Amino acid sequence: VRGVGEGSDIVGKEMYSFTDKGGRHLTLRPENTAAVARAYVEHGMQSWPHPVRLFYVGPQFRYERPQKGRSRQFHQIGAELIGDASAFADVELILMLHAFLSRLGFSGLQVLINTVGDAESRRRYAERLVEYLAPRKDQLSEDNRRRLEANPLRILDSKSPEERTLLLHAPVLQDFLTDESKGHFDEVLGQLSSFSVPHQVSSSLVRGLDYYTHTVFEIVSQGLGAQNAIVGGGRYDGLIAELGGPPRSAIGFAIGEDRLIEVLPESFRQSLPKLAPVAIGVIAKPATGEQLRQALALAEELRQAGIAAVVDFQGRSPGSFIKWAERQGATRVVFLGEEELARGEATLKDLETGDQRRLQREELASALAPRSPAIPP
Ligand code: HAM
Repeated sequence: VRGVGEGSDIVGKEMYSFTDKGGRHLTLRPENTAAVARAYVEHGMQSWPHPVRLFYVGPQFRYERPQKGRSRQFHQIGAELIGDASAFADVELILMLHAFLSRLGFSGLQVLINTVGDAESRRRYAERLVEYLAPRKDQLSEDNRRRLEANPLRILDSKSPEERTLLLHAPVLQDFLTDESKGHFDEVLGQLSSFSVPHQVSSSLVRGLDYYTHTVFEIVSQGLGAQNAIVGGGRYDGLIAELGGPPRSAIGFAIGEDRLIEVLPESFRQSLPKLAPVAIGVIAKPATGEQLRQALALAEELRQAGIAAVVDFQGRSPGSFIKWAERQGATRVVFLGEEELARGEATLKDLETGDQRRLQREELASALAPRSPAIPP
């Protein structure tokens, strides 16, 4: 609550909080940056060589209204860089993300970037924003009237057309930046340009978490609808001190893994290993217990080699075995006919290409081995 901010939607409306059977008050993590900052303080990372670079991958939980690209349980891949206040850190992070996403084959992604200034810039600005909005209070939604007191900057996030019109003429934060804040942002923009990272300054980008200072950014993709941010991140220079640690500048990001996968380029999908199982069938009527045991042993051997396998113990005919295999999602089948069983062999058929060949059973695992996922250099 302290890290993400009392005034934020995440804390105000979206936390899964409950008391467990031991009477402990728990909250499923809605994001991970505040927790990483706490871990930094709690586990003495102050004494590590800086900057400290950390990452996490895992589920997060927010009680939001589900829609395309927005679920109540979702997954993030995040990284945090703690202990570097320079614009180089901001640029390095964005460069890394840009390179990573390009390697996955993305081309039309957009980096939206803004600065939310430092605490002083924001204090000055919030004052002026409230001055502008207070007399126009009746044009604001109930939520935003509440925000006017708790967290006026969040009102800038509004999606309602009437409020957007009202905000068109509102003062902008960029006019209230301290020299330090402006200097930092200009440096970031200059370097991004010098590294040819396409980016666009978006002055309405404020992000929904209170800990941000200076640079904030999102990477958005067409094809996701309204929830189009694949990555969100920014600098949070005050958070670690806020949680009881030393003053430490930090910056990080989180990729929404579910959204990333949703819009993953087809070229990269093609390069992924096939996850379809291999179907193994004993083609003998009636199949003996010993023959079925051999099929079971073969499936086990393949699984040990990391290959998903399903076995048909019904002794179907080749045609109905193939139909069954397709319904299991298999794209390759292994026939164990009388002759193969007697000779320690197997017939491997690729259902997509129709290719078929006879192999020694020991050769099967390597013939079926999944290709490792290829991220092209
Ligand atoms: P965030 O913008 O709240 O930032 O989330 C980062 C990304 O997680 C979003 O861009 C989106 O892709 C994904 N995401 C968020 N909510 C949902 C949802 N309900 N369903 C599906 N995907 C979702 C943070 O969480 C910050 N902790 C990022 C950060 C790290 N800032 C500094 N360090």
